[in-house]
Amino acid sequence: MHDKIIQIIQDSENFTAETLEQIEEFRIKYLSKKGIVSALFDEFRTIPGDQKKEVGQLLNQLKISLQNKINSLKEQLSNIVTTSNIQDLTLPGSPINQGSRHPISIVRKEILEIFARIGFTVSEGPEIEDDKHVFSALNFPPEHPARDMQDTFFIEKDPDILLRTHTSSIQVRVMEKTSPPIRTISPGRVFRNEAISARAHCIFHQVEGLYIDEKVSFADLKQTLLYFAKELFGESTKIRLRPSYFPFTEPSAEMDVSCNLCIGKGCNVCKYTGWLEVLGCGMVDPNVLEFNNIDSKKYTGFAFGMGVERIAMLKFQIRDLRLYFENDLRFLEQFSSVI
Ligand code: DAH
Repeated sequence: MHDKIIQIIQDSENFTAETLEQIEEFRIKYLSKKGIVSALFDEFRTIPGDQKKEVGQLLNQLKISLQNKINSLKEQLSNIVTTSNIQDLTLPGSPINQGSRHPISIVRKEILEIFARIGFTVSEGPEIEDDKHVFSALNFPPEHPARDMQDTFFIEKDPDILLRTHTSSIQVRVMEKTSPPIRTISPGRVFRNEAISARAHCIFHQVEGLYIDEKVSFADLKQTLLYFAKELFGESTKIRLRPSYFPFTEPSAEMDVSCNLCIGKGCNVCKYTGWLEVLGCGMVDPNVLEFNNIDSKKYTGFAFGMGVERIAMLKFQIRDLRLYFENDLRFLEQFSSVI
């Protein structure tokens, strides 16, 4: 039986095939239920015990080598283009599935482009930050709730190291390195210790803006944001600023844009108010300027910050924040026509 198996291994190694049918015949001859290998396994049961180990190993080797042979024959055949398997060489090729940009990337790119057109440069900063850049240089009082363990991811070993909770930290990094005039826009990922739901996630994206120069006024802020809203949501878009509070701006405001779905009439997206909340903004607090060695008597500035997920939700009418992170192709493919 030993010699018989060796002979079969040799024969099968020399086998060549020109068509898929020949490969299939080969497979049936050796590996089908009534094939040679199956018969050999039946015969194997009858041989004396002292031969079992060696012959058993050989049999397994035969099975593997036959399977490898079939695979390699198939592969060789698929690499050969013959006139018999391509009927018309002028037929168009099969379409290649092209990927598309993620909706967050689409919106982030659009925001950066809108501000680039009025002279804002892009700046970035680290995701792992320290207390100074995220909080203290931005005028957060020591007892501010945003520092709370429930909002911020701290590193256990060193409470001075944390994951940034907003891209406002990049403002500080820019002020450290550059002197006014400053005109910059900063995109990035931010992290908050929140339970994941349709409306909240522990990781999301923000874009921060900072403008510092002599004689910058609230009117400049308002006009810049109006330009932005019109570019992003359409020429007929209106904005409204509501008083608000942020430690790093004074005065502070929240900006709403007129609902582009119901054109201000009221619908369930704008909760029948006609307005959609889009970003936070304000005049940079003099304390922040001074902390970063910028003379607050000479210079003034404005800042704003927005959530990219939120803007993409409004633009594409996405109702659940979790969709951005699941990478379900049925969701992602819907953005393939957007540049
Ligand atoms: N950092 C704020 C947040 O995460 C957003 C923000 C508000 C940024 C006002 C600003 C600003 O620059 O002026 O909610």
